[in-house]
Amino acid sequence: MTRQNKPVVIVEKKNHVAHITLNRPDVLNALSFELLAALKEELEKIKQDESVHGVFIQGAGEKAFSAGADIAFFHTASPLEIREVAKLAISINELLENLGKVSIALINGFALGGGLELAESCTLRIAVASAQLGHPEVRLGVVSGWGGTTRLPRLIGKGRAAELLLTGAMISAQKAFEMGLVNLVAEKDTLQADGERLMSEILSNGPVAVKFTWEALHRGLNLSIEESAKLGADYFGLIAATEDFKAGTGAFLKKKAPVFKGK
Ligand code: COA
Repeated sequence: MTRQNKPVVIVEKKNHVAHITLNRPDVLNALSFELLAALKEELEKIKQDESVHGVFIQGAGEKAFSAGADIAFFHTASPLEIREVAKLAISINELLENLGKVSIALINGFALGGGLELAESCTLRIAVASAQLGHPEVRLGVVSGWGGTTRLPRLIGKGRAAELLLTGAMISAQKAFEMGLVNLVAEKDTLQADGERLMSEILSNGPVAVKFTWEALHRGLNLSIEESAKLGADYFGLIAATEDFKAGTGAFLKKKAPVFKGK
């Protein structure tokens, strides 16, 4: 997690939820190779950790979730080095989507470029009202090459994605909410509590059902309507083999609250 004196990624576990903090506040949590490598290492551990059911990602300091890729590095790196970092970044974004756990980006300020691409890979996003979000890469003569051109149109549609990616404009949290890019707008002092409320609402549901629903949604988006619907039906059949399915449906019939075991 730390290769220098100061850890660039901090992970704390509370009540089955891992809180990941991107910790380079002096440079608005810009995503250096070192930070990305540490983040991947931590996410791989979290993926294997059955005691962790959900993940929050946030930025250290008052100003930013993350202002994106480390421009100082970009400026001098070779194309091959840039490709290596891009491959690392896209592997993290893919890992997040296939973590088997709910992930929520808590956007406490700027979420730009690679920082926004990271947030776009989380299951859900909450932003403080003062946050600024955007893909300013083209303003620097750079391409959104860490998945922005892939995930943003899937989240908000091709036309709006094109507008954000091609103008490089920053938008407010409210506008991002209206576009469907963030799920909730919070105040600075309620961000954490709002995140925890949303997380516990999801985690109070049948754990396997939550996991399968996400898989059906995520995998289904890349399939035809017919294949996607069949996938949903397959997951429905599969969930019927779990103890949670019997517990949830049985509790309903007895007019009781279900007790799920995640099995
Ligand atoms: N990479 C490296 N360093 C970055 C950075 C990035 N993506 N974003 C900000 N920083 C550094 C700044 O260079 C500055 O360092 P310094 O104090 O040593 O000069 C520090 O973080 C604070 O940023 P600053 O620009 O002074 O803050 P600001 O409030 O005036 O502006 C932003 C904030 C986010 C508008 C501005 O920093 C910015 O445009 N950042 C780049 C965003 C971007 O284009 N990301 C996509 C990269 S492909």
